[in-house]
Amino acid sequence: MTENMPGKVYLNGEYLPLSEAKISVLDRGFLFGDGVYEVIPSYSGQLFRLHDHLKRLKESLGRIRLNLTYDSEKWLEILTPLLDNNKDQYIYLQITRGVAPKRDHAFPKDPKPTVFSMCSDLQPFAGVETGVKALTMEDSRWELCNVKATTLLANILLRQAAIEQGAAEAILHKNGYITEGAASNLFAVINDVLVTPKNTSEILPGITRKVILELAEKSNIQTQEETISIQALKTASEIWITSSTREIVPVIRLDSEAVGDGKPGIVWHKMNHLFQQYKRA
Ligand code: PDD
Repeated sequence: MTENMPGKVYLNGEYLPLSEAKISVLDRGFLFGDGVYEVIPSYSGQLFRLHDHLKRLKESLGRIRLNLTYDSEKWLEILTPLLDNNKDQYIYLQITRGVAPKRDHAFPKDPKPTVFSMCSDLQPFAGVETGVKALTMEDSRWELCNVKATTLLANILLRQAAIEQGAAEAILHKNGYITEGAASNLFAVINDVLVTPKNTSEILPGITRKVILELAEKSNIQTQEETISIQALKTASEIWITSSTREIVPVIRLDSEAVGDGKPGIVWHKMNHLFQQYKRA
């Protein structure tokens, strides 16, 4: 077992070694991608912004009409035994509509959700200090991007295409406007203002995004939640992609052009510092 592999995992009320955690081939998560998930960082055993992650989970469950009424206490009870107080880690939590007796697109009568969670070590993302390359791509995903759904085939294909072209992320656009990354939100500094696309059903309401907006407000960094055209993005002096596992990554090349002076920018340095302080606190 490699160092980053989870040891024991949680599955439907039990803690098991990873190799013993098994799910039926009739699970609707397997057959239809009929489920939602969360990725929650944990710094030194403390789940980061748990309330926000659980709120989004509840909203995702509500939007796909999956009834699971665990409260925060129940989630803490489930997740805490997976954590190591001496490490920075992240919880992966997935809930599907469970096993149905036969494969039918319509919901089963009395669904028993499958609840699965594992914990992995959080590895500092290599591109955080140097910056990364990203590529713009047409956003070909479905219409409910505010649901943190496990139907990630489009995201996977987009991220893979970016990686095969030497980039770390695909920055997606729809009808000429930027939405988000294949597995991240997007920020840009345009005319000295920190801009990020508005929370609509076209993007995932990222928790890292939310933290950045809060930190910016406290530090008098001017922000705007506004549409960003592809042309406007090309004029940005800074572009960042943000997520729970990569935190705030500066994009230093977009398609074939340098972003700003081709180095992580001054606003990124400031925000990354604020973020690191905040997360340790
Ligand atoms: N994904 N947008 C999409 C499509 C994402 O998949 C993610 C994160 C984000 C950022 O959200 P947050 O800041 O809450 O992590 C935005 C996780 C990390 C993943 O799928 O592994």
